Amino acid sequence: MAQTVTSQEEPVQIDERLQHLAFIMDGNGRWAKAQGKPREYGHPAGAQTFRRITRYCGTIGIHYLTFYAFSTENWKRPKAEIDAIMRLFRKYLMDAFDEARKNNMVIHIMGDRSVFPSSLHKLMDDVEADSAGNNGTVVNMAMNYGSRAEIVHAVNRLIAQGKQQITEEDITANLYTAHCPPPDMIVRTGCEKRLSNFLLWQGAYSELYFTDVLWPDMTQNDVDAAIREFYSRKRRFGGL
Ligand code: FPP
Repeated sequence: MAQTVTSQEEPVQIDERLQHLAFIMDGNGRWAKAQGKPREYGHPAGAQTFRRITRYCGTIGIHYLTFYAFSTENWKRPKAEIDAIMRLFRKYLMDAFDEARKNNMVIHIMGDRSVFPSSLHKLMDDVEADSAGNNGTVVNMAMNYGSRAEIVHAVNRLIAQGKQQITEEDITANLYTAHCPPPDMIVRTGCEKRLSNFLLWQGAYSELYFTDVLWPDMTQNDVDAAIREFYSRKRRFGGL
């Protein structure tokens, strides 16, 4: 069902062509530096933006959202910065019970959980279980996520099930995103134009949208601009 929301320009109309929007939230560090602050300062601002954009996308009727918060490669960063992101992650999970209830969201945490402490395991499980009965927007948060590792993980699960031959459908069904259609569009903020090991399998036919806006500055209007661009593209999925 199409929904209409008024923004500064013109209303964006969401229809069944746009089910799943994914975001690479890049530019927190540069945003902080631009304010003369240490890099870690950018992540709480990024987390606020994440909350704002998630709510907005839910309001306009997007069914699935995926956010890249921490990659398997991000452990190479300074400890202080990693600690700051992990504290935000814990806070996000603690707030997510209320946030999901109020906004009718279903929360999924995707990625390799084995590295996280058991207290976080319990929080992740509890948030997912608590929000599972909601029927609004599905919000996937990628934490310690890497797409190549995800594919290897899926194949190993299939081997463990005794599979001799593997189909594309088998792999799709064993990814962390098994509960979602593939992303229709992947949006990356912060000037860089690459996927950085995000949704490589799922994004085979995703539209890609790159914006110079740094993630903490991302607004509803910027989301609307990405959505307008999406609807201006011709998707052929290899056909004519
Ligand atoms: C990339 O920007 C961003 C990250 C590696 C972390 C993203 C984290 C958040 C948006 C906040 C965490 C939110 C939750 C809820 C866990 P960057 O730091 O690489 O920026 P730069 O490219 O300017 O250095």
